[in-house]
Parts: sequence; C-alpha cells; structure tokens
Amino acid sequence: MRPLDCTTRTVLTAIAFAATALSMHADEGTPEITSFEPTPLEKKIFDGPGVTVTRGDEIYSTLCAGCHMPEGEGAVGGGMYPALAGNEKLEYPDYAVFIILNGYKAMPSFAHTLSDEQVAAVVNYLQSGLGDNSYEPVATAEQVKLSRPQ
Ligand code: HEC
Repeated sequence: MRPLDCTTRTVLTAIAFAATALSMHADEGTPEITSFEPTPLEKKIFDGPGVTVTRGDEIYSTLCAGCHMPEGEGAVGGGMYPALAGNEKLEYPDYAVFIILNGYKAMPSFAHTLSDEQVAAVVNYLQSGLGDNSYEPVATAEQVKLSRPQ
C-alpha cells in the first residue's frame, strides 16, 4: 500500500473519530477503524529503539536536522524545508510547539514520538541554541502538555 500523505491521514483520523463517535450511539455499531498504515518515517521511528535523548540539541540532530539541516539553514530540493536559524516565528514558543505536535503539510507530527519534556527541550534549542537564534528559551513541558491535541 502506498504511504498516505498527511492530508489523507488527517481525513482518515477525522473519519475514525466520527466512526467511533457514531458507534457509541448506534445499537449495531459501525465497524471501528482501529489501525493506520504508518508512513516510512513513522516506521523508522517506531521500529527503532525510540528517541531517548533528552537534550534539545541532540533531539534536533537526531530528528530534525535531516530535513531542516544541521545548522537550521533549511533546504530546497525534493521539497521546501524552511530555515529555522534566523526564523522570526521562533520568537515565541507556541508556534513551534504547535507544529511539532500536529505536523503541517510535509512536516511530520512528533506528538507520539516525543514527551512533553523533549518537545520543550527542542523548542528551547530552536529559540536559543540553533544558529544565531537568541530568543529567550521559554518553552515548558507544562505548556506542551496543554497544547497536545485532545
Ligand atoms: C521529514 C522532514 C521534516 C522533519 C524530520 C522535520 N521537519 Fe519541520 N518542517 C518540515 C517542512 C516541510 C516544513 C514546512 C511545512 C510547510 O509550511 O509547508 C516544516 C516546518 C517546521 C516549522 C515551522 C517553520 C516555519 O517557518 O513555519 C518548525 C518550527 C519545524 N518544522 C520544526 C521541526 C522540528 C523541531 C523538528 C524535529 C523534531 C522537525 N521540524 C522535523 C519538514 C520536516
């Protein structure tokens, strides 16, 4: 089966939720959708030993540098990978936390890969350690927890 793109997966997730919600009300429940075909990236992440590093710079080099490049300079090639060094959208942590948890277009979601602490650590690294970024690193695990999709 061809790996599903993000949009298809989002739609399938919505259908799965709707099906689950309906089956709770119907007497003869609709068959529940219980599994998805993981993307190649998800397979790689979940088949491996998991991401155990906790420092922001290590999380970045393990999971993010492949697309956003080691110094956060971004890349244009098989897609457009935005630069994270010198990126003004990182002044406040909320945007990066949201993108990392939810994914966006070709950016995968890391909600199931990273703990609250790990997301906060990598966002703080984006804010203050990557390239010349020198924003105040103010992301917290508590904020990540509250931002997770329910
Ligand atoms: C498979 C490639 C890939 C990986 C791995 C990846 N990203 Fe991304 N990321 C993208 C793409 C592509 C976009 C742009 C999405 C769009 O706007 O279309 C993006 C966007 C972003 C943005 C928003 C940038 C902006 O200017 O809007 C942030 C922040 C970000 N990624 C952080 C991360 C972090 C942190 C990690 C590691 C935990 C990571 N990304 C891993 C591909 C990737």
